[in-house]
Amino acid sequence: MTRYEQLQSELRKLPKTWLIAGVAGFIGSNLLEALLKLDQHVVGFDNLATGYHRNLDEVQHLVNPTQWANFQFIEGSIRKYEDCQQACRGVDYVFHQTALGSIPRSLSGPIATNETNISDFLNMPMLWYVKNQNFLDEKE
Ligand SMILES: NC(=O)c1ccc[n+]([C@@H]2O[C@H](COP(=O)([O-])OP(=O)(O)OC[C@H]3O[C@@H](n4cnc5c(N)ncnc54)[C@H](O)[C@@H]3O)[C@@H](O)[C@H]2O)c1
Repeated sequence: MTRYEQLQSELRKLPKTWLIAGVAGFIGSNLLEALLKLDQHVVGFDNLATGYHRNLDEVQHLVNPTQWANFQFIEGSIRKYEDCQQACRGVDYVFHQTALGSIPRSLSGPIATNETNISDFLNMPMLWYVKNQNFLDEKE
């Protein structure tokens, strides 16, 4: 058994609660599918700036109804600390996949891109660090 298979088996036996920030985007929605198929509990967080509800609908069709019931969506922005606090409540792990992509967008709106991708991007890990103190020391 590979380490990955072993980890999958451990997660199935003892499901965790995961937060995926940017869940309606490309990477986030693929993570959502993978985690739900492992019978994990998932909180999805996104402001739908560039992500799509249809990405979530697609995942719903790829998992069974019980797995889909383990998903909770919160619409909010990483640029608002209170939104991040709400999203982090009760979760074990965070996948932080929010971003404002596109070079043309960064040229026409450099401040929004900078804040989303750099300064306010830190809200989630800082909050998590303060909450857990061991965020940066995760073993695996
Ligand atoms: N797609 C790839 O092949 C790839 C490869 C390597 C690295 N990455 C990186 O992974 C990350 C995610 O990439 P992606 O392709 O999934 O991007 P994406 O644009 O598909 O997803 C980003 C998500 O973040 C959300 N978002 C943006 N601003 C937000 C905010 N303020 N609050 C909450 N949600 C917000 C968007 O609505 C979107 O759903 C990026 O940092 C990207 O650079 C992507």
